[in-house]
Amino acid sequence: PHRINIAIDGPAGAGKSTVARLVASTLRYVYVDTGAMYRAVTYVAIARGIRPNDEEGLASLATGLDISLLPGEEGQIVLADGDDVTGQIRTREVTASVSLVSANAGVRSRMSELQRLMAAAKGVVMDGRDIGTHVLPDAELKVFLTASPRERATRRFLELGDKPGVTLDQLEEEIALRDRMDSERDIAPLRQAPDALLIDSTGRSIAEIVDEIVSLGLAAA
Ligand code: C5P
Repeated sequence: PHRINIAIDGPAGAGKSTVARLVASTLRYVYVDTGAMYRAVTYVAIARGIRPNDEEGLASLATGLDISLLPGEEGQIVLADGDDVTGQIRTREVTASVSLVSANAGVRSRMSELQRLMAAAKGVVMDGRDIGTHVLPDAELKVFLTASPRERATRRFLELGDKPGVTLDQLEEEIALRDRMDSERDIAPLRQAPDALLIDSTGRSIAEIVDEIVSLGLAAA
């Protein structure tokens, strides 16, 4: 079969990255976590003291920054200008600022450019917020993956383990705020593409969703 590109978009905590990673490994495709790229820019901005509302500072940072994703034994390794930032991009500090940084025009155009290069040879499963609508509008398969807010918060809560450091209610609020900012920004907001298939994962297993997307992908290839 010939190789296609698969776009998986949706709100925070819908299970996109887990699903996208498994779909990619089943099809022997490359998985691209675009949220990790925005997180890496955010981390570097914080480290260099560039404020999330410094429009020009962020844009010039992003223009000169190289973000690459490498396959690692325990998932994707994220490099920012060659430095491994994988362990630093999932902190609550980065999570709290990433939506503001991602609203920046210069940041978005640089990340979209890198993402299109990664997908140029096809055979990519890319997850994010604007992949089906902006980055890869010609992707052969587009999925918009969602789940109820409570279920999304619960999944994130369980991922945090024994010492979550937040309550379930707090997490649900943080997720809702991030989704609101991602949906209401001017450039490439979080939105279901008209030709994307809506999959609600509430109460369904990961394996079921992965099977569904793999079958659709094989049918589209
Ligand atoms: O997917 P994840 O939750 O790690 O994404 C972190 C943030 O990165 C999102 O809340 C959003 O602000 C931004 N993002 C984006 N466009 C994408 C992927 C992520 O703006 N394609």
